[in-house]
Amino acid sequence: MFPKINPTQTKAWKKLKAHYLTHGSIHMNELFENDTNRFEKFSFEFEDFLFDFSKNIITEKTMELLMELAEECQLSEAISAMFNGENINETEDRAVLHTALRNFSNEPVLVNGENITPLVEHERNRIKAICEEIHSEKWTGFTGKKIKTIVNIGVGGSDLGAAMVTEALQPFWEEDMKPLFISNIDGANLLEALEEIDFEETLFIVASKTFTTQETMTNATTIKELFLEECHEESFIENHFIAITGNKEAANKFGIPDENIFEIWDWVCGRFSLWGSMGISIALTIGYEQFEELLKGANAVDKHFKNEKLEKSIPVIMGMLSIWYINFFNANSEAVLPYYHHLSKFKAYLQQGAMESNGKSTDRNGSPINYQTGVVIWGEVGTNGQHSFHQLLHQGTQFIPCDFIIPINSQNGLQDHQDKLLSNAFAQTEALMKGRTHSKNEIPFKIFEGNKPTNSILVKELTPYNLGSLLAVYEHKIFVQGIIWNIFSFDQWGVELGKELASDKLVAIKKHKQAKAFDGSTNGLLNKVEEWRV
Ligand code: F6P
Repeated sequence: MFPKINPTQTKAWKKLKAHYLTHGSIHMNELFENDTNRFEKFSFEFEDFLFDFSKNIITEKTMELLMELAEECQLSEAISAMFNGENINETEDRAVLHTALRNFSNEPVLVNGENITPLVEHERNRIKAICEEIHSEKWTGFTGKKIKTIVNIGVGGSDLGAAMVTEALQPFWEEDMKPLFISNIDGANLLEALEEIDFEETLFIVASKTFTTQETMTNATTIKELFLEECHEESFIENHFIAITGNKEAANKFGIPDENIFEIWDWVCGRFSLWGSMGISIALTIGYEQFEELLKGANAVDKHFKNEKLEKSIPVIMGMLSIWYINFFNANSEAVLPYYHHLSKFKAYLQQGAMESNGKSTDRNGSPINYQTGVVIWGEVGTNGQHSFHQLLHQGTQFIPCDFIIPINSQNGLQDHQDKLLSNAFAQTEALMKGRTHSKNEIPFKIFEGNKPTNSILVKELTPYNLGSLLAVYEHKIFVQGIIWNIFSFDQWGVELGKELASDKLVAIKKHKQAKAFDGSTNGLLNKVEEWRV
């Protein structure tokens, strides 16, 4: 169980408030001028990463106070509670153990007294087996053709992680394998994917923890109907459909046999689930060995997070810096800027991870919250973002801390491009910090105030292992913030209301009658559908 401490009532919070008043407006230029060792003090290496947080509005005292806040909110105890399998997702009475999916030691991990390590290993072996069967053509399509296209049908956590990782690891794809993702209930998504699909060579993965999600079940049903129209034989479903779910019965009912069903347990939260069977599309695309590398990279960060002192832990530092800006500088958003073209889906993935987890306004005691929680995550790959929204980062009135994710080596071989990409990334963090002061003939519009905080996360190369580490850092950062904010980060009740309310709107739309049952606006909108639809 988690502590239930209101952070604003802690001693450290009060000290941080006072510290903000005296230090919040110090310019980083001054901090660098006064301390030639600032980079050494506020950066460190972890495996293939260099994490530089020296371009933040912090002093050693700030970090000390932030760590004091973490201690007072019992962050260390909370980290242990998660790794020990306690039911920290209290509102759903569940443990939170995505970390167990990437643990390769034989240590038992107990969930309500049951050791889950053998279950994880068993499922991992099944992932390995399906990869071998498909890649070696032991498992083929109904006409004996090699499976070459993997279509993941899922939404939210059953889509975003796998979609982002497969894209990020494009240089590591197995020859002849292509992943596609159908998530949106908008039929355009399905039709667009269909254009690239040859049913004889395609494996469909129906990915849904609940197997009840409207989007996924509608897309899967339409695909199944189209598939059967093509092959005319129900028994071929087993060559072309597998399921990833915690609801075996529903998957059976859909027509998927037991041996094609991969398990996800209730102690795996959807948005952190790519490390287990939800990652099958990743494993099939990059090969099982590389999938294991991804898991091992994440596991290395888990050990770091579990064992390292708070002040030396990358996810803790990132989480606490974020708290510093959100709660003391009133920052409302954070930009995540990967200087790596294949990380274009990273922001969408992080948006779910961060905003579904920490977009909460009730604390762990069940009381309304009167301080800011959660933050809007947004961003774009460099350098595209530079030519659209960076103007606002530099000279706008919003205060937006940024993370620059910078792989040093690219796999594309175009060194000149890479050198220019890197120089742009470094120039941006420098400009955001330094700004440009008023000189004699300068017009005021050219003045940059600077002092915009950035983290630079350098990585030697974005291998599967290093990507795993990067993702685990962000997962744990989100955890840290949730602990400090005294909220439950692993439920998502806010998504439910929309789902419930959609069902009677659907009935009204399908009835083709005058809508009267809702509020004036909703009735008006529904009636326009009836009037305008062709
Ligand atoms: O959007 C809400 C949500 O419950 C997410 O948390 C989850 O990842 C997604 O729906 C998909 O759920 P399922 O895997 O059950 O289809």
